Amino acid sequence: MAGVVDVPQQIQTDAKIVVKAITSVFHLKKTRTEPAREFIALKEINLEVKKGEFLVLVGPSGCGKSTLLDILTGLAQPTSGAVYIDGNKVTGPALDRGIVLQGYALFPWRTVRQNVEFGLEIKKVPKRERRAISDNFIHLVGLDGFADRFPHELSGGMKQRVAIARALAYDPEVLLMDEPFAAVDAQTRESLQDELLRIWEATGKTILFVTHSIEEAVFLGDRVAVLTPNPGTLREIVKIDLPRPRHNSDTRSSAEFGWIRRKIWELLQNAPHESRHHLNAVPVAEAISPTASL
Ligand SMILES: Nc1ncnc2c1ncn2[C@@H]1O[C@H](COP(=O)(O)OP(=O)(O)OP(=O)(O)O)[C@@H](O)[C@H]1O
Ligand SMILES: [Mg+2]
Repeated sequence: MAGVVDVPQQIQTDAKIVVKAITSVFHLKKTRTEPAREFIALKEINLEVKKGEFLVLVGPSGCGKSTLLDILTGLAQPTSGAVYIDGNKVTGPALDRGIVLQGYALFPWRTVRQNVEFGLEIKKVPKRERRAISDNFIHLVGLDGFADRFPHELSGGMKQRVAIARALAYDPEVLLMDEPFAAVDAQTRESLQDELLRIWEATGKTILFVTHSIEEAVFLGDRVAVLTPNPGTLREIVKIDLPRPRHNSDTRSSAEFGWIRRKIWELLQNAPHESRHHLNAVPVAEAISPTASL
């Protein structure tokens, strides 16, 4: 295509996921008050995620987190740059990536079990095997006894567990999660975080997890990639050297935890000036505090 720099279909890499020079530009239509213009949602994002790593993307509303995740799922195309999984360029959705989104996105006409088995049906896994796999994952997310319920009969936290079980059931090596716990209460959120860490430790998946919450990012991540908006830019990657396992421990109340949380908060506070006051941007200083979600 004219004007678009060609990117290779394959690259040599040890990383599970490579995000290479991703830029994403949206064309905004003319409105009553503004002329048509281009909006740079992401600018030159470079990122590598190691096999088995838990990487968290954190940043204020509008900094391009979902845009980047959509590109990783293959549901959206970048304006330039490319994403590689195991060295192969992502060109569309595929079952090597499990996706968990904020709004659960369950099929309302399917039971818990039928939701969990969805990807297995696409993969044409025989019925008996499907049943054994769904039993296993329904158990793993703590929903024994709910297999025949429909989504409208479940709480928000339970729906989220179904979404996680569905994404895990077809055994993708990569899990892409966009604010999966944003809609549940604080206590359920903490228990879902614990469960996710347990599952991650048991399965060795590579996880890329998007959140508004600095606290959630520090609790979960091996590394936290801090994004700042307008245009969405990768500000810094912070390594989280807290010991594991972190669930069932006093991780959240440790001094190190508080220190890292503060550091990320400061990175977001001291975002470049143009990031703070711009159309669409949430004024960073108002939007966050070291303890709150963004
Ligand atoms: N289809 C689109 N057309 C035009 N602009 C878009 C489109 N999708 C996203 N944007 C803009 O791109 C920017 C990044 O959006 P995105 O949804 O990726 O942000 P986000 O970091 O996920 O925010 P949030 O935390 O609120 O979910 C926003 O300013 C948004 O208005
Ligand atoms: Mg988003």
